[in-house]
Amino acid sequence: MDPVPTLAANGLNMPTLGFGTFRLDDETVGRILPEALALGYRHIDTAQIYGNEAAVGRVIAGAGLPREQLFVTTKVWVDRYQPAALIESVHQSLERLQLDQVDLLLLHWPVFAQAGMNPTLEALMLARASGLTRHIGISNFTIDQTEQAVSFCGADSLATNQIEYHAYLAQPRLRRVLGRHNLVLTAHTPLARAELVNDPVLWDIGSQYGKTAAQVALRWLIEQDRVAAIPATASPHHAKANIDLFKFSLSAEDRERIAALDRAQRYVNPEELAPDWDK
Ligand SMILES: NC(=O)c1ccc[n+]([C@@H]2O[C@H](COP(=O)([O-])OP(=O)(O)OC[C@H]3O[C@@H](n4cnc5c(N)ncnc54)[C@H](OP(=O)(O)O)[C@@H]3O)[C@@H](O)[C@H]2O)c1
Repeated sequence: MDPVPTLAANGLNMPTLGFGTFRLDDETVGRILPEALALGYRHIDTAQIYGNEAAVGRVIAGAGLPREQLFVTTKVWVDRYQPAALIESVHQSLERLQLDQVDLLLLHWPVFAQAGMNPTLEALMLARASGLTRHIGISNFTIDQTEQAVSFCGADSLATNQIEYHAYLAQPRLRRVLGRHNLVLTAHTPLARAELVNDPVLWDIGSQYGKTAAQVALRWLIEQDRVAAIPATASPHHAKANIDLFKFSLSAEDRERIAALDRAQRYVNPEELAPDWDK
């Protein structure tokens, strides 16, 4: 497989394609992640709430790759946003991951107590200053929340906003704001929870290149400026297909057809966590 290109915004050096691990239990991680690493995935996305950091850590330790070749993201869960708890939780994540430092540490959802987001952002910056993570970022933040976070942390401090982004959810305004602040858009749920794999337009586009709808959906994301995608799969066959994206490119006409698929459709919208989404 060809090496996955990296994104350099805010000094990030993050591979444009990562391996998502939400809903992969320990046994599945132990089976699929070594295969993914063998296929060339070097960017792994986990989170404290996924409950699989220790399994991810065991695979990383067993793979024996030079540390600098791997890009590991984890996310702090919302019940650890009080500053001391956040720092302690990152130490615990690192212990489970068997790492001295993660590459990227995110706030998983914008759910803040009375004091607002600043104390938590301060703790996130402290985690970076203490060497627990190379980069910091946010996840599922709206336009206003992104602006607030950037304004508090300062220009070029936050590396990414990890948000749901795929051909059925285009979010042009939020994308422009991320671009203006030089934040990478990390696209979670990039296959719209597998809804996109049956899309007839994507299949039609893919037929020109001998590619599937899923591959077109992912290629469309990573061709965009400062966009990374982190599809998840438990299937070795899909893991191989999802990284086989670097020997074709989409035409302007293909991109127009894909842009027309936008239906502002969200697949990740947990009532107790979701902000008041941008319209
Ligand atoms: N920050 C956040 O709040 C947040 C929220 C959600 C997700 N995420 C991150 O984003 C990652 C991906 O999200 P997700 O897993 O919810 O959704 P997704 O990647 O959009 O879709 C995963 C689904 O697509 C299927 N699939 C994958 N590759 C395929 C292929 N080539 N052909 C056909 N089907 C394929 C998978 O089934 P098989 O297993 O059968 O392949 C699985 O059912 C997560 O693992 C997580 O790391 C972050």
